[in-house]
Amino acid sequence: MVGVVRTAVFPAAGLGTRFLPATKAQPKEMLVLVDKPVIQYGVEEAVASGVDNILIVTGRGKNAIEDHFDVAFELESFLEQRGKTAQLEEIRKITELIHVAYVRQGEPRGLGHAVLVTKEYCHDPFAVILGDDVIDAEPPALKQMIDVFQRVQGPVLAVERVPAQDVSSYGVVAVEPVPEMPRVHRIVDLVEKPAQRDAPSNLAIIGRYILTPDIFAALEATTSDRTGEIQLTNGLRRLLETRPLYACEIDGVRHDTGNKLGFLKAVVYFALKRPDLAKPFREYLDQLG
Ligand code: G1P
Repeated sequence: MVGVVRTAVFPAAGLGTRFLPATKAQPKEMLVLVDKPVIQYGVEEAVASGVDNILIVTGRGKNAIEDHFDVAFELESFLEQRGKTAQLEEIRKITELIHVAYVRQGEPRGLGHAVLVTKEYCHDPFAVILGDDVIDAEPPALKQMIDVFQRVQGPVLAVERVPAQDVSSYGVVAVEPVPEMPRVHRIVDLVEKPAQRDAPSNLAIIGRYILTPDIFAALEATTSDRTGEIQLTNGLRRLLETRPLYACEIDGVRHDTGNKLGFLKAVVYFALKRPDLAKPFREYLDQLG
């Protein structure tokens, strides 16, 4: 048996240059969709999927993330005194959600390297969640993947079909079908950010992985690419030499909040899902024409 997925790793050491100046003194993971930082959407997804340990891979300038998931004593007593129970519950929920630990990446040497620094803490199967990809799904995206993981008994990557001209922004997988599991594929190859003409398919890896601890040896044996980064996709390609890997198409709506347009779309999408905001906000949007 493959064991239970209890830990989710959140790489969060990136510089967030696409959102400067907003991210000059603030981590990009703390940018807000309506009233919740982006990273909290991923953490809530992990919790709703049965994970009870969160490991955030951070770097310099990321203290706001640690403060966010910590108890805010002064704020709590202020809200208590004023009788603001709804807000009090909301902020308590954040700290009660889960056990959060932090590990520093040191040099930012790519996603594969960010995963590699968690080696000493991940001895069982674990999830990796890239917070930029916010997925609205029921069951939650990670839960869908965990269910697949239990059946196929091997690493599972979330994938989505993307327009051919977009493949160069993603890791792309070549696959063959898995009988009786329509949304699941067996991976036969993986390529990180291929040119459109070299892409083996239009099935792009989106930011969710369920990995097994043998990924660490594969990453250690993976050389840096020409930008000096260790790519997780290349580590997985090496792992594929030793065991089967699977891709799972998620049933849900994904937002890439890592670019400005995707971020804005996500703000509108989540605002329109909020009972307190949907009506007046839609009226405002209609008025804009
Ligand atoms: C990373 C991965 C890539 C994956 C993508 C999903 O790229 O390297 O394989 O498809 O996340 O969001 P990044 O977006 O960090 O450049």
